[in-house]
Amino acid sequence: MLQLFKNPRGALSLLCSALFLLILQTTPLRADEGMWLPMLIGQKIDRMHELGFKLTAEDIYSVNKASLKDAIVHFGGGCTGEVISAEGLLLTNHHCGYGQIQAHSSVENDYLKDGFWARTRTEELPNQGLTVTFMRRMEDVTDLVLQGVTDAMEEKERQQIIDKNIKDLTEKALNGLDKRYNTVRIAPTYFGNQYFLYLNEIFRDVRLVGAPPSSIGKFGGDTDNWIWPRHTGDFALFRIYADKDNNPAEYSPNNVPYRPRYHFTISSKGVKEGDFTMVYGYPGRTQQYVLSPAVEYIALRSNPQKIHLRGLRLDVMNREQGKDQAVRIQYASKNARVSNAWKRWQGEARGILNAGTIAKKKAFEERFQQWAETTGRDDYITLISKMKELYNRLEPLQYASEMYTEALMATELLQFADNLERQLARRGPEEALSLARSFFKDYYQPIDEEIFEILFAEFYAALQDTPDLLPTPDLLPAAAPAARTTQAPAAHTAQAPAAHTAEAPAARTAQAAHCPENIRTLAQHLFSTSAFTREQQTLDILAKDSEQALELIRNDIAFKLVRPFVEKNRTEIQPLIAAINQELSLLYRTWMQAIMEFDKDRVFYPDANSTLRVAFGTVAGYSPVDAVVYKPVSTIEGIMQKDDPNNFDYNIPQTLRNIHAERNYGRWETDGTVPVCFIATNHTSGGNSGSPVLNANGHLLGLNFDRVWEGTMSDIEFDSSVCRNISVDIRYVLFLIDKIGNADYLLRELDISQD
Ligand code: ARG
Ligand code: GLU
Repeated sequence: MLQLFKNPRGALSLLCSALFLLILQTTPLRADEGMWLPMLIGQKIDRMHELGFKLTAEDIYSVNKASLKDAIVHFGGGCTGEVISAEGLLLTNHHCGYGQIQAHSSVENDYLKDGFWARTRTEELPNQGLTVTFMRRMEDVTDLVLQGVTDAMEEKERQQIIDKNIKDLTEKALNGLDKRYNTVRIAPTYFGNQYFLYLNEIFRDVRLVGAPPSSIGKFGGDTDNWIWPRHTGDFALFRIYADKDNNPAEYSPNNVPYRPRYHFTISSKGVKEGDFTMVYGYPGRTQQYVLSPAVEYIALRSNPQKIHLRGLRLDVMNREQGKDQAVRIQYASKNARVSNAWKRWQGEARGILNAGTIAKKKAFEERFQQWAETTGRDDYITLISKMKELYNRLEPLQYASEMYTEALMATELLQFADNLERQLARRGPEEALSLARSFFKDYYQPIDEEIFEILFAEFYAALQDTPDLLPTPDLLPAAAPAARTTQAPAAHTAQAPAAHTAEAPAARTAQAAHCPENIRTLAQHLFSTSAFTREQQTLDILAKDSEQALELIRNDIAFKLVRPFVEKNRTEIQPLIAAINQELSLLYRTWMQAIMEFDKDRVFYPDANSTLRVAFGTVAGYSPVDAVVYKPVSTIEGIMQKDDPNNFDYNIPQTLRNIHAERNYGRWETDGTVPVCFIATNHTSGGNSGSPVLNANGHLLGLNFDRVWEGTMSDIEFDSSVCRNISVDIRYVLFLIDKIGNADYLLRELDISQD
């Protein structure tokens, strides 16, 4: 102490380090953002050990021995799955296997409603077209891909060399392998500053083994989607089959269960706040390094407008679905699709604003600029201004493109007319017929007609300041007097529910008054004249020879109305967007290089690109708003609290009610209840659905299936205070297999450990 006072400098620094230690001890464990490349996980392994992880980097990824990665698959291209037995048993989400479960369902055997459990191997159901892909090996091939490339080169020449190198490397990697079951992907990372090669093995005989009823697998439906507390048993079981030599093969009854290189041991120990967790899977797309204008566009313009438009659609769907049970079923899946991103965007926009991402990015860009000036490098100095200029040009085009998708194509009739023509012209009558069949199976004209009235007007209103991004009005069919004479019909705001009007862009109010009747006339005319609102008439057209059918389709009012828009978008807007994006991505290549130089101490991780990644963190609750604190684990008690036989989303099977009433939890009971879901700080994204959630020993704790909506801006910025991934607890999965599926023969296949 004495000494300290003699040397004020030393005292200060000691004080500082003491304070620093104090801060370290009192702040809760910092959540660790990042989606790390398995091969380079060594960069983060010390930090993982600090958080409790007990395995080595080699255990996570190795080419020399079986490692965790050998139990993980890319499921059907969009989800993740993991192998949990020596006999190829595979676990993924119910919502990932939904299409397969639905495809096997009929009125007599409604597996969506009642669930499905194969009693024997022969009852396991094959799924045409379903594949699972193992990543066998990855390699940094940057030097090989960039071989022969020089700084002085024109971009076009550079790209040609790269393409050629990629082609050669791919062929070399595939040499001697069966190309039906092995693929190579060489993926640019950091906008082409680095390249990684992935050698993948694809299995094509994947059978459905089990699924709980939707009332469990989708418990909470869209009401609870993206929401914590959550109680969804979002899992399904499949099995991978191989030929007798354990190699991938097309479906055959002679195939046998695949013997994996590695499968997960299941932990029955469960989780508590602060426990280490790791998610190993296939996140789809993130944009962590984008400039402030891109974030500004998302948070202030694009998301609010898309939320508004989807809100209008959902209001119509919800109202009509509420009136009629048949319509509710018809529009269940459409409603879910529309509502999924609708909610995610709300969380994303709000999260960006709450986290101050735009201001942070702007400040970073300013600091970067100051630094860039000191480097004397012209490409660094001019970088931000060039990119901003490109964003200025991109924004109206991007916005228009989104309006084409979200407003114009919101009308099913218009989309169908366009698709039908394309399908018949390009694929053939059979494909067109099957498109028509599936369209009419779930089509309800009153919903579509009302959506057209509202959204077509919205489309014009949204683009009224950029009329050059619309086709010339003369192209509208003669029967569209309204839309033709008043260039910009606007929303009938009066009918929009208050919740949505609050978000409505101001632009449309001015013209609102006189437009609804015009749109009404157009809608009536369109929907009563087009053949494509009536199944029989459509099938009659398709029964004719293709030339004649095409002619009839092309003369249909719906097609005539929509095609000029589609063409305008396809031939003018999209190419412009693509060209700007290409320029931008070249500049992003420099940007990544430059910020890595500028921000030397930061450890960078590449944006998600549907390749295998490791995320890690800890089990943690959060506080979404003032005075509210969420705990991290939910239980079966919460299911009972939500249970409501009169509410489709919360109407659980009677068996589950009985089990709860009798507390008949068997070996799955923990503290007098059954844990159901938990949240943690792992950095995940779309595509991580079905990913294994592992504990410190690498044992399976659960199955990732969602994020909390308040944290969905983690695709742009990870805010550790609210970004949480949601997983279903493996003990709930086992409980369901046992007590609801009565499939204890499956449990016998599993390795269940106490830790
Ligand atoms: N929000 C999750 C995801 O993005 C689950 C979506 C499926 N579930 C639903 N209720 N719509 O994919
Ligand atoms: N449900 C998402 C999926 O299907 C995962 C949730 C997320 O976006 O994180 O991949």
